Amino acid sequence: MSRTTAILPGFLLSVAFLPSLLWADGAQSTRVTDPQQYAKASSGGYAYRQQADYILTELDLRPGDVVVDIGAGDGWWAEKMAAAVGPEGMVHAAEIDQRLVDRMKQRFANLPQVKPYLCKPNSLELPEDSCDLAFLSQTYHHLNKQTRIEYLRHLRKVLKPTGRLVVVENYSELLASGKDHGTQLSTLLAEAEQAGWIAVRCQLIRDSSAYIAIFVQKDLFAKPAPAAKKPPPDGQKTEKPSN
Ligand SMILES: C[S@@+](CC[C@H](N)C(=O)[O-])C[C@H]1O[C@@H](n2cnc3c(N)ncnc32)[C@H](O)[C@@H]1O
Repeated sequence: MSRTTAILPGFLLSVAFLPSLLWADGAQSTRVTDPQQYAKASSGGYAYRQQADYILTELDLRPGDVVVDIGAGDGWWAEKMAAAVGPEGMVHAAEIDQRLVDRMKQRFANLPQVKPYLCKPNSLELPEDSCDLAFLSQTYHHLNKQTRIEYLRHLRKVLKPTGRLVVVENYSELLASGKDHGTQLSTLLAEAEQAGWIAVRCQLIRDSSAYIAIFVQKDLFAKPAPAAKKPPPDGQKTEKPSN
């Protein structure tokens, strides 16, 4: 076999996967090369799940991390995140629907790092400073609009100071119908800001009408207080500046 014949299949394979690699590293150009490129994006539904690898890359979970998956549903994301945090980590799969909790308990009977449980609509009832990540996929629009900002403040308490909030949500402006099955990005950003979160990344999810928004706590941006000046060693005079 010639050298070219040996290299060609690998080259073709890498070209075929190039677009998703570019997307995954966040370096994809925003230039519009095809006027139809956004019109082709699916509207609503679960199309964003096709980009699960990209979303998981953005989550950057590490073994041992503790995640709370809020509105875990059937546990589709909880299972994927459990693989990333490993047996030493934990995924609290929080749901307000007891039937879904029961189904998840069956589904995850052999995956002990996933803990399905019944939460309250306005409280996760988890200890303070206990989680590295709060994940809401298609759940934000389900939260009570009157108390959502309070809920986002509650999440700051449940998360560690370095914990992140990640929201995957349909961009309601892009939904042809059923706009209440999503949230305007501007609404989420404004509410999160009021609750003390700062967006560090927002991205439309390829071929879908959903976005991913990642937040960290505003406190992280506070400058550390200047270190107190050490007193001079014993016996040494402090020189006053001459006027
Ligand atoms: C559209 S499903 C999303 C399921 C899953 N996260 C996904 O992306 O496939 C929304 C889920 O959120 C749950 N839910 C609604 N309000 C909630 C709340 N306040 N706390 C926790 N779960 C909630 C619902 O019971 C439902 O299962």
